Amino acid sequence: MTTDLNVGTDLRQRSADSELRRRAGAVVPNGMYGHLDMRAFPAIPQYIARSRGARLWDVDGNEYVDLMCSWGPVILGHQDPAVEAAAEQQRRQGDCVNGAAPVMVELAETLVRTVAHADWVMFAKNGTDATTMCCTIARAHTSRAMILVARGAYHGAAPWCTPFPAGVTAADRANLLEYDYNDIASIRAAVGEHADDVAAIIVSPFRHDAGFDQELVEPSFAREVRAYCDTIGAALILDDVRAGFRLHHGGSWEPLGVHPDLTPWSKAIANGYPLAAVTGTDRYRDAAGSIFVTGSFWMGRWPWPPGWRPLPSSAVAMRWPGCGRSGCN
Ligand SMILES: Cc1ncc(COP(=O)(O)O)c(C=O)c1O
Repeated sequence: MTTDLNVGTDLRQRSADSELRRRAGAVVPNGMYGHLDMRAFPAIPQYIARSRGARLWDVDGNEYVDLMCSWGPVILGHQDPAVEAAAEQQRRQGDCVNGAAPVMVELAETLVRTVAHADWVMFAKNGTDATTMCCTIARAHTSRAMILVARGAYHGAAPWCTPFPAGVTAADRANLLEYDYNDIASIRAAVGEHADDVAAIIVSPFRHDAGFDQELVEPSFAREVRAYCDTIGAALILDDVRAGFRLHHGGSWEPLGVHPDLTPWSKAIANGYPLAAVTGTDRYRDAAGSIFVTGSFWMGRWPWPPGWRPLPSSAVAMRWPGCGRSGCN
């Protein structure tokens, strides 16, 4: 089912937003890019003035309830006092300071304690950094090239995974094979003769592709993918960028008893501050240590609040039906 975001008569004031769109049109290609390009959705404001709690105000003063949680990250509400106090404490000590902040180690230790499969953690800034790192680690570990990706799944905006073809070459996608979500037969068919070339299968905890109805994972599919990865010697990458810390603190497939080898995280991890993480098992530790990944701002300490902890489980909203395991919220 697709959704028409422009349905209904929108009587809200839009002049400041329109004016900003007009000015941006002169100095930014198309006026905006990526998922914030709202040219197709005139009923949605492109510019937001401020936020607090569950609410946003656009530049024309219109008030909204942010059911989007700002595309996922703001799980505790905008400007949550505890998060802001912790972030401010970090910011006062200097953000971009040549090296990592001590709180990085604290957060890594907490994640290793919290996430069931995690023996180690690496940090980055965006979900795309983290999904791409997982693929690179899997390739470094296996010395293989191919990655299996579910048809229509979103794993970020790098050339290997962007849903839009402009500027993407055949070489960028040469080592991808597609399968259908919840369909183990389609994985076997896609792998075909390539079993010895497959570095990883990347899969979302549930099917949350834009523009389609969401679909829960079949527990049998999750278990079969795990077993199949073990059979062919490929890494199972569970892309928890979107669902992570929403379904289960131990990892979204933990209630199903299915543990990935590698998981990218972002979104809800820092309540809107730019932070991503990759967790992995000991088997992939050497490969993770062998790849060169970094960024000038990756060690910025602002998003790493001291005393970070996942939300209490009562705040984790979604339930896996019939998973029957303790800790299944
Ligand atoms: C499942 C999934 N993986 C990766 C990404 C990319 O994350 P980012 O936009 O932070 O690069 C997203 C973003 O929506 C996502 O939903």
